[in-house]
Amino acid sequence: MPDQYDYDVLVIGAGPGGYVAAIHAAQLGLRTACAEGRETLGGTCLNVGCIPSKALLHASEIFEEAVGGHLAKFGIELQGATLNLDQMHAEKAKAVKELTGGVEFLFKKNKVDWLKGYASFVDAHTVTVGEQTVTAKDIVIATGSSVTPLPGVAIDQSVVVDSTGALALPKVPERLVVIGGGVIGLELGSVWRRLGAKVTVVEYLDAILPGFDGEVRRESAKLFRKQGMEMRLSTKVTGVTVQGGKASVQVEPAAGGEGETLQADAVLVAIGRSPNVDGLNLSAIGIELNARGQIDTDHSFRTKADGVWAIGDVIPGLMLAHKAEDEGIAVAENIAGQTGIVNEDVIPSVVYTMPEIAGVGITEEAARERGEVKVGKFPMMANSRAKTNRDTDGFVKVIADAKTDRVLGVWIVASLAGTMIAEACVAMEFGATSEDIAYTCHAHPTHAEALKEAAMAVTGKAIHV
Ligand code: FAD
Ligand code: NAI
Repeated sequence: MPDQYDYDVLVIGAGPGGYVAAIHAAQLGLRTACAEGRETLGGTCLNVGCIPSKALLHASEIFEEAVGGHLAKFGIELQGATLNLDQMHAEKAKAVKELTGGVEFLFKKNKVDWLKGYASFVDAHTVTVGEQTVTAKDIVIATGSSVTPLPGVAIDQSVVVDSTGALALPKVPERLVVIGGGVIGLELGSVWRRLGAKVTVVEYLDAILPGFDGEVRRESAKLFRKQGMEMRLSTKVTGVTVQGGKASVQVEPAAGGEGETLQADAVLVAIGRSPNVDGLNLSAIGIELNARGQIDTDHSFRTKADGVWAIGDVIPGLMLAHKAEDEGIAVAENIAGQTGIVNEDVIPSVVYTMPEIAGVGITEEAARERGEVKVGKFPMMANSRAKTNRDTDGFVKVIADAKTDRVLGVWIVASLAGTMIAEACVAMEFGATSEDIAYTCHAHPTHAEALKEAAMAVTGKAIHV
C-alpha cells in the first residue's frame, strides 16, 4: 500500500532543537525531512549564537591575557602583541562553517532530507516549503526565536546592533553601550571590553542576570565592575539617536527622575528574544499563541493540533540550546511511540564570561520560599587548583532541603563553572543529597573539589575553610 504521507516526520527549523529531533527520528526508523529557511543548518546557535559568541569569548580572553599583562606573572613576557580583528572574525567563521557543515553531513549520514525554504502550514499534515508542498504524519515546529526589538530604537547593524551585529563589528568601538544586563549583554560586552572598548551596561532591573541566584547576581556585578565594565542598574533607555556614525543614548532612572545622555560608538540591544512564529500560518491548524507569543505544549511536546508538536525556543521554558536538543530527542521518541521526557527542573544555565557563571535547579530565594533549607558555600579562593592557576574569583553554593538533604540547586561562579555544573546536574538527576556529593571522591587538585567542599559545608564540615 502506498504511503499516505511523503514523510513520517517533518521538522520545521534546523536549530539545535530541530536538527537533533530530525536526526533522532531518522535513527528511530522514521522517514524524516527538515525544512530550514537559512542558507546553512544549525539555527541561531551555530550560525549567530552559541558558537560564534564562544569563539569570540575564547579569542578575546587569549588577547586580554596576552596584552593585559596576565601572562607576565607566570613568567611569559610578550611584547608588542596586537589585535588582528579580521583574523579573529575569520577563525570564528571557520568554526561556524565546520559545525554547520557537520550538521549537513549528519543529515546525509542519517538520510534526513533537507527541504530548503521557509515552511508554512496548509493543514496539520501539509506544509508548503518554498514552491514545494509536502505532507507528513507528524510535524515538529522548531522555529526558534529572534531578537526582541526595543520600541523606539532602530537596529541598523552598524551603530545600533543586535547580537548578530555585535558578533561581526568590523572594528573595536571606543565606547559601547549595552542595553540589557542579561546573558547576551554580559557575554558580548565582555568580548568588546577585552578587545579595548569602554563598556557601559544599562539594566532596567536592580540586578543583572534575572533568573539567577541573588548572591550570584550581586557577586557577578561586582566582578564585572572590577573588570572595568560600568553597570547602570535600575536604569531605563528612553531613546537612541544616531548621527554621523555616533549614538546618543538617553537614559533615566527606572523609577523616573532626571535623565542623561550617554555617548557611544556602538549600541548593543540585548533585552531578550521572542519566538519565531510569523509566516507559519498557525491559524490554519488552530494553534493560538500564549500571552508571551509562545506555542504551548503538553509534557510530551504535543500542541493542540493533532499530529503537530513543538520544541525549543518557540515553546515556554529556558531559551537554551541544550534544552532544545533534549526536547528534540524526547519529541522524536514520543513520535516513535516511545516515552521521551525532559526534566525541566534540571537544565543548567551557563554564562561564558570569565569567571563563568552557572546554575542548575532553584535559587536560594525560591528554595527558602518553599521551606526550610541548608546552604553550603565554598570560595574558589580556598580551592587549591584555582589558587595554583591564579583564578580565584567566585564561589560554589549548594542548596539542600533541610529535612531530606536532597540537593535543590547548585550555583557556581568560577573560571570552569560551565564544566563543573555538569556534575551537579548528574547528581540532581539521580536525586542526590548533599551528603552524596560530599562523600564522592573528587580528584585533587581540581576546581571540582570546590563543589564537594560546598556540599560538605551544607553540614558545616568543609575542610579547607
Ligand atoms: P533556533 O536555533 O533559533 O533555530 C530555529 C531555526 O528555524 C532557524 O535556523 C530558523 O531559520 C528556522 N526557521 C524559523 N522559521 C522557519 C520556517 N517557517 N521554516 C523553516 N525554517 C524556519 N544557548 C546556549 O545554550 N548556550 C549558549 O552559549 C548560547 N549562546 C547564545 C548566544 C547568542 C548571541 C544567542 C542569540 C543565543 C545563544 N543561545 C545559547 C541560545 C540558543 O541559540 C537558542 O536557545 C537555540 O538556538 C534554540 O534552538 P532552537 O532549535 O529552538 O531554535
Ligand atoms: P535576557 O533575558 O538574558 O536578558 C535581557 C536583560 O535585559 C534582562 O536583564 C532585562 O531585565 C533587561 N531589559 C529588558 N528590557 C530592558 C530595557 N528596556 N532597558 C534595559 N534593560 C532591559 O536576554 P538576552 O541577554 O537578550 O538573551 C536572550 C536569550 O538568549 C536568553 O534567554 C538566553 O537564555 C539566551 N542566551 C544564552 C546564552 C548562554 O546560554 N550562555 C548566551 C546568550 C544568549
